[in-house]
Formats: sequence, C-alpha cells, structure tokens
Amino acid sequence: MTALLLNGKELASKKREQLKKDVEQLASKQVVPGLAVILVGEDPASQTYVRAKEKACEQAGIHSVLIKKPNTITEEELLAEIERLNHDSSIDGILVQLPIPEHISEQAVIEKIAPNKDVDGFHPINIGKMMTGEDTFLPCTPFGVVEMLKEAEIDIAGKHAVVVGRSNIVGKPVGQLLLNENATVTYTHSRTKNLRELTNLADILIVAIGKPEFVGAEDVKEGAVVVDVGINRVDGKLVGDVDFDSVKDKASYITPVPGGVGPMTITMLLENTVLSARKRS
Ligand code: GUN
Repeated sequence: MTALLLNGKELASKKREQLKKDVEQLASKQVVPGLAVILVGEDPASQTYVRAKEKACEQAGIHSVLIKKPNTITEEELLAEIERLNHDSSIDGILVQLPIPEHISEQAVIEKIAPNKDVDGFHPINIGKMMTGEDTFLPCTPFGVVEMLKEAEIDIAGKHAVVVGRSNIVGKPVGQLLLNENATVTYTHSRTKNLRELTNLADILIVAIGKPEFVGAEDVKEGAVVVDVGINRVDGKLVGDVDFDSVKDKASYITPVPGGVGPMTITMLLENTVLSARKRS
C-alpha cells in the first residue's frame, strides 16, 4: 500500500482564505481581531515561530503585537505584562511563547492569562472544559491534527488511537480530543514498556515524542493512519518523528514533514483568535 498524503499545507491555506473572509466580515462591525505574542529571550526556534505567527496574522488581517522581553525579566514583571493585556480591549488572544526561562514559573504564567483570551488553550479552566467536551479554545496543534483527519473523512469513532508522547502541548490533549471523537485511546511515552507492540495496534498513530525518525515501518500496522507531529533539525534538514520513506508504503494515510501538521498549528491559532474576537462583538 502507498499512503495518501494528509496535506496540512493545503488545508491550512484553504482555512486561511476563509479566515480572511471572516476577518473582513468582522471589520464591517468595527471589530479587528488582535493577538499579542510575548517572546522572552533569544531562542532561535522561538524567534522563527513567532515571526511565522506575525506574518500569518498580517496575511489574515489580524492585528498582531509582538512584545519582546529580555531573559532577565522577573516573573512579577511578566505577570504584570499579561495582566495589562488581559485588560486591553484591542487584544482578543494572548500567547506566551514557550519555553520561558527557568526562573519563571510556566504554570504561573499560563494561569495568569485570562481564560477568554487563552488562544493556546493551555489554561487549566480551558483544559478542564476540553476534557468535559464543553465549547472552549482547543490547543492549536491537537486541534489541527483532528481537523486534518476530518478533512480526509477518516472515521475516528471506535478506532484505536495510539499516542506516542505525553507533553501538555501535544500528546495529552491530542489523546483527549480523539477520545472526545469516540476513539479508544492508548498513551505511550518514554517510560512505556513494549512501546512498539502498542504502536503496532494503532488504527490511528499520533507521534509526538521529539525524536527523529523514531517510528519505522516495523512499528506500524498495515493500513494505519500515521500523523507525525515531530519537527527535528538533523544536519540542517527538517525530519519528523516518523521515517516517512519506509512508513509511507505501509500506512493508508501519512502526514509529511514539512507540510503536514506544522502549517495547521498557526492556522488554528488564527482561528482561535478570530473566534475570540467574534465573542467580543
Ligand atoms: N512552543 C512550542 N509550541 C508552542 C505553542 O503551541 N504555544 C506556545 N505558546 N508556545 C509553544
């Protein structure tokens, strides 16, 4: 079997066209969606992500504000900045780019963001709502993964979804969203015994462990849907957590890296920001 491509780039661009129209419609009501991004320090990967977010906002007609802070900022100062944005009526979404320096509590920062501006979906209130299936901001990467599966009309209900990786940003929430879609979910991670036996049982395999080409053809069931959330830089080249070349001959669907999940993440951030702005009006 040769897998069909789950083309995130194409779906992202289709969604961004729709977003432009949604933003124009809001403009007729004098509402311009606003996203504030806080970047602490000089991490090169974070700088790249933040630049991509700014560019995407500009193309969609979303007002974006980049707030750069030095590594030396105190937790108190950062929390005060968030508090200011919580009360800024031109801002619908607040995102603090992670990771942040170790002397600042990530949890304190996340919990400071007003839940109705938490377009990352990281606030405990929004995580709780996601768990109970209430309407809320969904974390962007997991949200993008589920949107890609739905676009390809892949049935999720009743399927065995195996998640590799248990981060708060991807692994845990993507499993929850698949459960909300009535999948049977197994979580695996670096401490899982017989991990590769479990991945072999997956109808839908989501890999987000951050190790280049961790999953090979021998770890995948014939006909499985394989979603690769990994972005690893190896010898200057981007590779996923899945060995694409070998797995593509066994899977029914597979996401490429780049051009798979990556472009969806920012798109869902834009969607969350527009959703937030719509609630404002
Ligand atoms: N760092 C890596 N991914 C993300 C994300 O989705 N949101 C934020 N805020 N930081 C990140």
